[in-house]
Amino acid sequence: MRLHPTAKAESLWVVVNKKRRLNPVAYGPVLHSKINLAPPAASAFWALKAELQRRGLGTLCLNSGYRSYGSQKSIHSARVAALGKVAGENLAARPGHSEHQTGLAADVSITSLECRIGNFGSTDAYKWIAANGHKYGFIVRYPWKLTDVTGYVWEPWHLRFVGKELATEMKNRKIKTLEQFFSLPSAPSY
Ligand code: DAL
Ligand code: ZN
Repeated sequence: MRLHPTAKAESLWVVVNKKRRLNPVAYGPVLHSKINLAPPAASAFWALKAELQRRGLGTLCLNSGYRSYGSQKSIHSARVAALGKVAGENLAARPGHSEHQTGLAADVSITSLECRIGNFGSTDAYKWIAANGHKYGFIVRYPWKLTDVTGYVWEPWHLRFVGKELATEMKNRKIKTLEQFFSLPSAPSY
């Protein structure tokens, strides 16, 4: 049987969350040679960056793109060690469960914040992306107050490339998460 695109690691529509592990678990994507993202996400990132620059909203930068199984494992362990299991796991995915491992997720900020993600949610760049990112194929993957669905707190910096078609359809239908769009179970926990 053919897998639905939401279950294929290499699909732009893959849904990875606390209930859905990547298959294979140590999956690694093809990456762009000039930036640490899968090629379609890389092109969209640069296009978005150019538009923000044109609008005077800052210089977009990539804080974190593709992360291997091993690097996600270190990030997850560090977060859990610092914040405890519940708070740590509401910010960092276990290895094999992170969108960063697909090369389609981009933690972004702007150079005036020295590319730190912490205050990105209060910038005009973020506001513009939240309203218009779909035109470039991006969604804000972990929206405000949808922790019960996504398993993560609001992460305004974490953009997920899903392609213009899906991102625009989600925006038009006012559906904020991939889980809700594809009628998949909510994933508040593992
Ligand atoms: N911060 C996101 C949820 C991750 O670790 O993949
Ligand atoms: Zn992220």
